[in-house]
Amino acid sequence: MSALVGRTALVTGASQGVGRALSRALADAGARVGLLARPSPALDEAAKELGERGLPLPADLCDPDDVRAAFATVRREFGGLDYLVNNAATARPHRVEDSDDVSLDREIGTNLLGPLYTVREAVPLLRRSDVAHIVNLSSESTADPFPFLLVYAATKSALETLTRGLAHELRPDGIRCTLLRVGQTATGFKDDWDPEQLEKALHAWTVGGFRARVSGAAPQSPERVAEALLFVLQQTGGSVIGELSVRAYP
Ligand SMILES: NC(=O)c1ccc[n+]([C@@H]2O[C@H](COP(=O)([O-])OP(=O)(O)OC[C@H]3O[C@@H](n4cnc5c(N)ncnc54)[C@H](OP(=O)(O)O)[C@@H]3O)[C@@H](O)[C@H]2O)c1
Repeated sequence: MSALVGRTALVTGASQGVGRALSRALADAGARVGLLARPSPALDEAAKELGERGLPLPADLCDPDDVRAAFATVRREFGGLDYLVNNAATARPHRVEDSDDVSLDREIGTNLLGPLYTVREAVPLLRRSDVAHIVNLSSESTADPFPFLLVYAATKSALETLTRGLAHELRPDGIRCTLLRVGQTATGFKDDWDPEQLEKALHAWTVGGFRARVSGAAPQSPERVAEALLFVLQQTGGSVIGELSVRAYP
């Protein structure tokens, strides 16, 4: 029997892409899953797809009150929490010089403040679990930040530092922490990017040699990332996978 049967998880950014695949994999393994994303028919559908194991948690990660309300629902419906998966993120191509107040708020709010809000709410629940685990998703772009995506890369670098620090801070509470670094994955992440900004970004990536570095391998499927998550969560006993990268392999 799967080690996840009867466990409870909260996945952010669960309405589509990687987060949706993570939620499905957790539910298939026997866990009940709270799916957090902003209110939308896609979120309702993603939760419904999991039947009794899916709990929709409509919330904007940029709003701490929304996050508090989502965790109140988790406490009421699940009575506790075993796994927190901070997956949600957003990016917009722009030069730092051209960044507007709204996009800065959105990117930093969703990618960095959001995980701080969720961790803050989750820790008191996780402390009561015997398998407590926080998994934070980052990006390969932290190692060599692409121009036009520096705010995104900076938020992910901060999330990586946070994850490493949380592993120390939460060890006395028995809460494990893992940084799951993800390479190119076939999702709608770039679907709503402004075509004009994208054109400028593509030019900068070509000139800077960045495009050559990512071409050659087709993006991996979100399900591959889900397999990595289940692998991480199923390690028991005296070891933890502190960091893991999962990327396409040609
Ligand atoms: N796709 C890639 O190539 C790639 C590469 C490297 C790393 N990653 C990482 O993998 C993770 C998943 O990415 P993805 O490609 O699956 O992204 P995606 O398809 O764009 O999905 C992002 C999810 O985050 C949610 N979200 C965005 N803003 C939110 C907010 N303010 N509050 C709550 N939820 C919000 C979205 O739902 P709503 O918009 O409905 O709220 C959606 O469910 C991210 O951490 C990303 O950085 C992806």
